[in-house]
Amino acid sequence: MSARLANEPRTVKPTRATGIAGAGDMLDDRMLGRWLSALAVLVASSWLCACRSDVPDAADASPDPSAALPPDVDAVLAARCRKCHSDPPINFAPFPLVTWQNTQVAAPGHRAAPVYEIMEMRLHDATFPMPPPGNPITDADRSVLDAWIAQGAPAKR
Ligand code: HEC
Repeated sequence: MSARLANEPRTVKPTRATGIAGAGDMLDDRMLGRWLSALAVLVASSWLCACRSDVPDAADASPDPSAALPPDVDAVLAARCRKCHSDPPINFAPFPLVTWQNTQVAAPGHRAAPVYEIMEMRLHDATFPMPPPGNPITDADRSVLDAWIAQGAPAKR
């Protein structure tokens, strides 16, 4: 911050551009824009899901801690999803997709629906697809996840 700004009295008024007091000091516009669009998508997708089914399959509150992902599913998640859904997640992703247990617990903002059901929704969401634009996935890789989720996303046998 410049010396001139630092010496100004700290009576922060809402700026005309953002209406948020001092927002320009804390976030540059690009970060704010990205954050707001991630938030909008999250709100929109939770709303869509809330209408999707009356009784979602209940997520497993304590999935078997010794169970592992099937190797083909693990490989697809590693190649296509963990760039963001790592543990801890990065790039604004809401949860990790690293272990089988990660896929069985309740997805944040989706009542009792497990993460794997939300994965299925977003893998086929024309408007807000996962992976997001710029992060390609092949039909073969998507089919691996589809087939696994269709069986109820079981652990490795
Ligand atoms: C480039 C980063 C990135 C990659 C790669 C990525 N995601 Fe995401 N994912 C995000 C972000 C950011 C969000 C939160 C915003 C949103 O819901 O769109 C998210 C949200 C989600 C959600 C929660 C959606 C909801 O409605 O609550 C699921 C499920 C998901 N991703 C699955 C996947 C799967 C499966 C893959 C791989 C096939 C994947 N993602 C790859 C960044 C990524």
